[in-house]
Amino acid sequence: MKDVYILAIETSCDETSMAIVKNGKEVEALTILTQMDTHANYGGVVPEIASRMHTENITLVLEDTLKKFSKKIEDIDAIAVTYAPGLLGSLLVGVECAKTLAFVYNKPLIAVNHTMGHIYANNIEHDIVYPSLALIVSGGHTDLLILKSPYDMELLGSTIDDSVGEVFDKVARVLHMSYPGGPNIEKAAAKGKNTYDLPKPMREENYNFSYSGLKSFIINLVHNETQKNREVRINDLACSFQVTAVEELSRKVDLALKNTGIKHFILAGGVSANKYLRQEIKKVCDKHQVEFHVPNILYCTDNAAMIGCAAYPLYKAKKFSDFTLNAKSSENIKTYIEKNH
Ligand code: KG4
Ligand code: ZN
Repeated sequence: MKDVYILAIETSCDETSMAIVKNGKEVEALTILTQMDTHANYGGVVPEIASRMHTENITLVLEDTLKKFSKKIEDIDAIAVTYAPGLLGSLLVGVECAKTLAFVYNKPLIAVNHTMGHIYANNIEHDIVYPSLALIVSGGHTDLLILKSPYDMELLGSTIDDSVGEVFDKVARVLHMSYPGGPNIEKAAAKGKNTYDLPKPMREENYNFSYSGLKSFIINLVHNETQKNREVRINDLACSFQVTAVEELSRKVDLALKNTGIKHFILAGGVSANKYLRQEIKKVCDKHQVEFHVPNILYCTDNAAMIGCAAYPLYKAKKFSDFTLNAKSSENIKTYIEKNH
């Protein structure tokens, strides 16, 4: 069979990224230009600045990606792009670039949902096996779902309020750590002890998650202690938060593996870069004799290689988009599954 090369574009948040992926798994070229340092000055991503920076950077990223590719742009079989969900102005830069390339080089255009990209990052080092249970934990999502076959999914549960990544970032902010907070919480937690008694997020026996109570408790605790001039033990609080947040994810994965009997598990999304989370979920998988998969840390946070992987099953199914393709800010996995059924 002929090899398929997909040029993929990802601009949903604060990374301008392009990749060329062979056969949905081999990363032939990858460039990620992050705006993190700029947004860190504001304590979080500023949408207007993000879209302007994507506009400035996208052609440079394209040039760089093509330089790393052993073939020519004419050898590419399709152009894939993240069209949803994310920051609208940022997504639009990627979508317009993809349409232009597809038009100029007369290639099919493939629209990829960002969350599907995080899932398919798992196809780079392992072949995804069906069915698999998948947990997606990122700045925008906390979803537990069953992958039945490519693009056939059943959503078991989601967060009913904040995503786990969002809470890592908010807790980091109240502890005066820079953006993005997740990696800084992880570093502080490694130096601390689980000594704070924090409320458990959600004790019900379903697959939904809730993190806003834990977030508010920590914000109030820090404000109260500061007002009373009492020391906040930052490393211990980071550690206690990380343990509490991860425990809830582990508990739900444990429940789902027990109830479904699925023997393959996939962890995905930016928060899956967290080593403590990886270790704890692996323990749950080991307990159930389930094969545990998580992408290499490079492919956990936003990147275009994962978009190239997720585009491959769509390419094989000839699910192409026309030039009316538009960006969508708010398509979560639930609406995406409903749309595709
Ligand atoms: O997937 P991602 O790059 O972007 C979205 O699609 O949202 O995820 C970003 C999120 C941020 O909330 C960030 O703080 C978190 O992933 N994150 C981490 C770690 N690395 C990134 N959270 C905990 N520990 C980490 N090491
Ligand atoms: Zn993401």
